[in-house]
Amino acid sequence: MVKNIAVIPGDGIGPEVTQQSINVLNALAEQYGHQFKYTYCLMGADAIDKTGNPLPDETIEVCLNSDAILFGAIGHPKYDNDPSAKVRPEQGLLKIRKTLQLFANIRPVTTYPSLQHLSPLKSKQLEDVDFIIYRELTGGIYFGKKETNEDLTEASDLCTYNKTEIERIAHLAFKSAQSRRKKLTLVDKANILETSRLWRKTVQQIALSYKDVTVDYMFVDNAAMQIIVNPKQFDVILTENMFGDILSDEASVISGSLGLLPSASIGNSSALFEPIHGSYPQAAGKDIANPLGSVLSAAMMLDYFNLKEEADLVRKAVEWTIKNGMVTKDIDPINFYFMSTVGDLIIDYVNGRIPGTVNKKNIELRKSTII
Ligand code: IPM
Ligand code: MN
Repeated sequence: MVKNIAVIPGDGIGPEVTQQSINVLNALAEQYGHQFKYTYCLMGADAIDKTGNPLPDETIEVCLNSDAILFGAIGHPKYDNDPSAKVRPEQGLLKIRKTLQLFANIRPVTTYPSLQHLSPLKSKQLEDVDFIIYRELTGGIYFGKKETNEDLTEASDLCTYNKTEIERIAHLAFKSAQSRRKKLTLVDKANILETSRLWRKTVQQIALSYKDVTVDYMFVDNAAMQIIVNPKQFDVILTENMFGDILSDEASVISGSLGLLPSASIGNSSALFEPIHGSYPQAAGKDIANPLGSVLSAAMMLDYFNLKEEADLVRKAVEWTIKNGMVTKDIDPINFYFMSTVGDLIIDYVNGRIPGTVNKKNIELRKSTII
């Protein structure tokens, strides 16, 4: 299989974690006889520094001509504390979502038994937690009309949705539920918001075509609580842009480290894959960031290419490193392994050198010596 992949390394730790994913993809390509061709492009603070524009036209052009986009991270502290900055890295991400119509943001929340101690939840609540959030990504309050009055004392952000925008993501979410435990929870605020009532009505209609899926409706304030008190009740959560932004960060702490979680943003003809963590500038260049969020995002890209066996192999490799404590500093601050070592171990596993010919002593040598 030949695939053209646009690579946007982005800011902070973005470039180094993305490199680990590319190494893994190259190892798979060699093993399975695929050809992955990469075109690098700019977005975020990196793009502002080099071109003055957080999303240069050339990047859009490359993305439109690619089969998928692999993205690292966005953001730089010099913009975070300056609310008056006119050009911001995040504008690049919002613009690429809108331009490529990446309307469905998919974030799986999985738990690993060996990482339960890192989760703020009790192990009893963590057992069997496995759900996936479908967050609408190109509508709602993020993209509605924004206004501030002349003397800057009043501001408003409009939240709008139309039926088509709701339907296209709802179908994806229902199909996902069909391939999982066949339960879908629509999260909204239909007791207050008109847009939420449109979501409910539309989803109720669509549900008629997915009779095997049980549908549940939950207000967002209750959902925020249920994700903590009883997360295993969820299978597929479907929700609008802003609620999904907030709930997916909340849900991300369940697994124990933000560094582990992947995401996919899917449109009709483009798809972007990125770890959900930010640019973590304090760790940039130190070889200590967790590469697994990016590597698991690359696995979601392989799923998207229909390379199921390859994707499953990557996930198995990741599970093996976690189970054997070969993890980065965010997971084990004392006995940690460097990012590139974890990346290399995943490749060793993928290539079938683990268990077996990989020398444990050599691995131990590449572990940190900070005690
Ligand atoms: C996310 C991020 C973005 C969002 C920011 C960086 C624009 O928080 O992908 O969840 O708010 O959507
Ligand atoms: Mn967010």
